[in-house]
Amino acid sequence: MRSSGLSGWAWVKTDLRRRRLWAVSLCRVVVALTLVVSGFLKAVDPVGMRAKVDAYLTAWGLGLGVDSLLLRSGVLVLAVLEFMMGVQLLLGMRRRLTITLLVAFQTVMTALTTYLFFTDTVEDCGCFGTALTLTDGQTLLKNVVLLAMIFFISRHGRYVIRLVSERRQWLASLTSLCYVVALTLMAYHTLPAIDFGPYAVGTDLRQAYTAPDADTPALLTTLCLEDENGNDLTDSLLASKGKTCLLTLPRPQKADDGSVDRINDIADIAADSAFGFYAVVPQQTVDAEVSDWKDRSGGNYPTLKADPAQIDAMVRSNPGLVLIEDGKVCGKWSFNNLPATGGEHFGASQNTAAGRPHEALPKLVMWYIIPLLVVLLLDRLLIGKKFYQHYILRQHLKTKTMRKKIVAGNWKMNKTLQEGVALAEELNNVLAADKPNCDVVICTPFIHLAPVAGIINAEVIGLGAENCADKVSGAYTGEVSAAMVKSTGAQYVILGHSERRAYYGETAEILKEKVNLALENGLKVIFCIGEVLEERESGKQNDVVKAQLEGSLFDLSAEQMSNIILAYEPVWAIGTGKTATAEQAEEMHAFIRGVMADKFGAEVAENLSILYGGSCKPSNAKEIFAKPNVDGGLIGGAALKVADFKGIIDAWK
Ligand code: PGA
Repeated sequence: MRSSGLSGWAWVKTDLRRRRLWAVSLCRVVVALTLVVSGFLKAVDPVGMRAKVDAYLTAWGLGLGVDSLLLRSGVLVLAVLEFMMGVQLLLGMRRRLTITLLVAFQTVMTALTTYLFFTDTVEDCGCFGTALTLTDGQTLLKNVVLLAMIFFISRHGRYVIRLVSERRQWLASLTSLCYVVALTLMAYHTLPAIDFGPYAVGTDLRQAYTAPDADTPALLTTLCLEDENGNDLTDSLLASKGKTCLLTLPRPQKADDGSVDRINDIADIAADSAFGFYAVVPQQTVDAEVSDWKDRSGGNYPTLKADPAQIDAMVRSNPGLVLIEDGKVCGKWSFNNLPATGGEHFGASQNTAAGRPHEALPKLVMWYIIPLLVVLLLDRLLIGKKFYQHYILRQHLKTKTMRKKIVAGNWKMNKTLQEGVALAEELNNVLAADKPNCDVVICTPFIHLAPVAGIINAEVIGLGAENCADKVSGAYTGEVSAAMVKSTGAQYVILGHSERRAYYGETAEILKEKVNLALENGLKVIFCIGEVLEERESGKQNDVVKAQLEGSLFDLSAEQMSNIILAYEPVWAIGTGKTATAEQAEEMHAFIRGVMADKFGAEVAENLSILYGGSCKPSNAKEIFAKPNVDGGLIGGAALKVADFKGIIDAWK
């Protein structure tokens, strides 16, 4: 729908922006959720993932062995990286870093899967851990689509809307980091928080083995447990009534023997209660390895052999324990988490393993979502409604071209008359030869105004004073009135600069008078606001800036506001070389626009140019001006050299 008040081309641009916003948001959600899910699934079952990564490495002759610390840490890093990149993108935090990392990560992954597709090195990419298996072709397609989306996002990065304030993003990051690290470490220490394997607690092995249907996993139907003489005992074990306990030893030589006493206790309970207790080792295990385990553990129970893939799938622990009762899996334990000793009580009621996805997933998701929502809510409450309403919901839907882009110079008390005239002349010539892409204004000491007005091209360079009196006229020695400023040919005046507030005692009341007089005399006002360092350090910057606006501008009409330009100048950044980060500037500008929207309405706020000032240089201007709520700069030191000032003006090109 065509919005009122916008001419044809502006409307097309607005509409284009809106469509772009939707397209970027869609890509962002798809990419972010894919990453969060794949990181999460790796964190849920890092032991299974370890085996997949090792399969890759082995195929390239770089196998580390699944027990290597490097591999364990590698899987942790991979899970954390994917999960964190996904969360950062989803919440629009650290946009630049996240997008750069994403482009690098996805490029490497796509190259890797292209190679796998053509060489057929491993069966499963492991993108989604052990939960979901994709073919090489599907993986490649997925990665190419994701890469294309990531490039699109990176091209239109400014449409990635931030959903948590910069000030509290660390809290959202920390919550996510703790969650994903804890998930991985807990799974390493005990068992996966969700059992994606075919042997999840509750599985009816007897049924799967004797009467499989089309959905029965192949690993269950092909289960084969052989005794030392090569007799297949699977049928009889699964058919037997009561309990059978399997001590799985996927790599007997590496099996941890820290809990052997408890394992032997359970084997004794089994012997006393007349139920089966077997060690299960991979088929290729040699007798010496089995006897080594028996020596180390002091265990004396029969051994069965099975396909190593079966053993890995049964329980993610070495050694691990599986309890089967009436042919059904009814308990699993890692060696770190064996059921407590105490009489004959060994059974399903002591199971600590997670169930299948539909049972375990909702709980696990809640453990993340609830703390994260608390953080987001807290952020919202603390930063205030305005920030969210304005900055998050509206800013990107509005066209920035409606507002004037301005670069204004503030010469302060510099340059003699001759030097000033020469500077203005040089700037005039440079800009005549290379037209600026924004409005350019120079604000000079009073004595320069009239001569400079005579030499600059008013079409290209606007002229302003740095101050005017708070009185109309009369016996105010040394003062210069707004009418006098206007009479020189100047069109602008800077008011409320922090140096005037600090050194000349200009209060909000005095500034209010000055603003009124300037407007009455047809001058446009560049009104400065900004907090000092202590105020920022104590988190009061929003209150300070809001009070400055309220104190001097809130009695103006919406119409008068069209002649006001705001300049946010954090005092700690003025002339110090210490610039606010682009994010800090954007956060404050968005807040200011929100305050103005509340007072004067959305339209006034949208049309209001808000400049940033404070150690702005050619090297940082582009980044700061790229922010959606920054409409240009008020430049001090760098306005005294044409090359520097021109460099900043060119940031709009
Ligand atoms: P600066 O000054 O660019 O030298 O920091 C800005 C200003 O005071 O307007």
